[in-house]
Amino acid sequence: MCGITGYIGENKTTDILIDGLKRLEYRGYDSCGIAVVDGKNKLYLRRVSGRVDALDKLVAGDPVKGAQSGVGHTRWATHGAPSEDNAHPHTDCAGEVVVVHNGIIENYLDLKEKLQAGGHKFKSETDTEVIAHLMEDKLKALHVQAAAMRAEMLEPVFFEAFRRTLADLKGSFAISMVWARCPGLLLAARMHSPLVIGLGKGENFIASDVSAFLKHTKKVVFLNDGELAAVRMDGVDYYTFAGKKTAKDSVTIQWDSTMAEKGGYKHFMLKEIHEQAEAVENTLRGRLLPLGGEILKAEMGLSAEAMKGFSSLQFIACGTAYHACLVGRGLFENFGLVASADVASEFTDRAKLMARGTLVVAISQSGETADTLFAVREAKAGGAKVLCITNTVGSTLTREADYVLYTHCGPEIGVASTKAFLGQLAAIYLLAGHFAAARGRLSGAEARRYAEDLLKIPRLIEETLEKEPEIAKIAEAFSASEHFLFISRHLNYPIALEGALKIKEISYVHAEGYPAGEMKHGPIAIIYKGMPLLAVAPSGRTLDLMAGNVEEAKARGADVVAIVDAASRKTVKASRYITLPEAPELFTPMLTVLPLQLFAYYVALAKKCDIDKPRNLAKSVTVR
Ligand code: G6P
Repeated sequence: MCGITGYIGENKTTDILIDGLKRLEYRGYDSCGIAVVDGKNKLYLRRVSGRVDALDKLVAGDPVKGAQSGVGHTRWATHGAPSEDNAHPHTDCAGEVVVVHNGIIENYLDLKEKLQAGGHKFKSETDTEVIAHLMEDKLKALHVQAAAMRAEMLEPVFFEAFRRTLADLKGSFAISMVWARCPGLLLAARMHSPLVIGLGKGENFIASDVSAFLKHTKKVVFLNDGELAAVRMDGVDYYTFAGKKTAKDSVTIQWDSTMAEKGGYKHFMLKEIHEQAEAVENTLRGRLLPLGGEILKAEMGLSAEAMKGFSSLQFIACGTAYHACLVGRGLFENFGLVASADVASEFTDRAKLMARGTLVVAISQSGETADTLFAVREAKAGGAKVLCITNTVGSTLTREADYVLYTHCGPEIGVASTKAFLGQLAAIYLLAGHFAAARGRLSGAEARRYAEDLLKIPRLIEETLEKEPEIAKIAEAFSASEHFLFISRHLNYPIALEGALKIKEISYVHAEGYPAGEMKHGPIAIIYKGMPLLAVAPSGRTLDLMAGNVEEAKARGADVVAIVDAASRKTVKASRYITLPEAPELFTPMLTVLPLQLFAYYVALAKKCDIDKPRNLAKSVTVR
């Protein structure tokens, strides 16, 4: 959701900003723009409603070779429709101060009214534009409007005006700013919206996330809420909003920039589906044996004693990560531990009701999802301990949680989450295994067996993905359908939800995931002749009931595709089958989801949808 890039240095500023925007496209956006300043204080502002490719074409002929600093932005509309006028960057009346912003300025209407009363003319409907006009006022107040000062002398003025502007803003924001009169300094600030500084040699970068500049540097500094950065070619200084200088450590990112490229696949989503065995393997590696606590204690300070002490678990997350929570709930319950799962945006009054001793487990690929962060803060305020499962080093969630369990999936670019989900499941199975062993729910021999079974999953994932050609054929056969139903039970019920979500996200058709037993209580009424119904029915204790539910659906006309294994195939009567390798019942969700991801992918492909950048969606949702 919205992406920021900023650059200062002697390289090709425009190219670097646009390349950075391309790498942030996956976050979701509808319009984009850049602004660069050349050595003669001339500002070039270019914006388009639409894709970064169009912006790239637009700037191709621009005479901005001499630019040494600039900012770029991909916008996901909140205030004001997606249009060129509302696209960032935004400027003040004089067209000298340029701002890009992620988040929401909550008091923008008040500020706008005052600024308009003071004579400012607004050119957009955005909340962001008030920042540029506020800056103009602050600069005026510092008496620099007419002063013929040299650029270096203007830097402290620029900085002070920025600080004063920040003091007037309420809400969430990541801001980056350039002032045409002062091209040697870029300013950036963060409050509840991510912002990262990339440290190069003789050049420095600003971005919403590291993928924008990984190609140039892996050395990064994460800004905290209430911090701002003064970014020059030869170095970066950090301050609090109050103006106090702070020392910050840099972190070296392990991801390789090529990991965020398509590597021969048609779409990131397909590439990421095929990276799932690796994602699970990397997440489990070195963390499983012995189960019981020592490893988690060494990694994140979660001892066996602490694991024994919790009375219950509360999972919270959004979207796909919420479906991982539901699997987590079933798994922990299987080991006799009370667990609940809520979507973060609905975790309202419940946060205050957390029983003492509840461990809140927050799951988020990005670690920046506003709903999840808000729910975590509420739970912490109520006294709960928080463990987060995330894929993103240094993300906000990791800084707010008491315990951090990283998934090691590498960058996920496709908006529809696939490998991050498998990584989350792997982390949950890992955590559940340690909890169960620490609490005496798994004996030594059972714990070893559990770990061995889990370690076999990556190979079974690879085996399952070999079914891709037949899954593609089935998906194509159903691709004209406007409705899809997904049903399952128990640990695979969340997989039915995930299968439906994947189709909705990338094919824009109606799909529902339902607990199979609940169909007869209402939803069965919508079944019509030929309606595609995907039944997730691996062997296990719910198989006979599932087979019965499939019969009920068929009797009303459903055209059933059954996701089975060799043994359950004999029990479930469907018109088509996708047969998976056999796995212990407890672990089946890590396999059954794979054909559903591929099914969604091939339906979307047949419908010619923009698979990696689905309409209306953002990868990282930083507003509530
Ligand atoms: C957005 C994305 C989903 C994702 C959800 C949670 O809605 O489009 O794919 O599952 O956010 O994201 P998170 O980063 O917290 O896992």
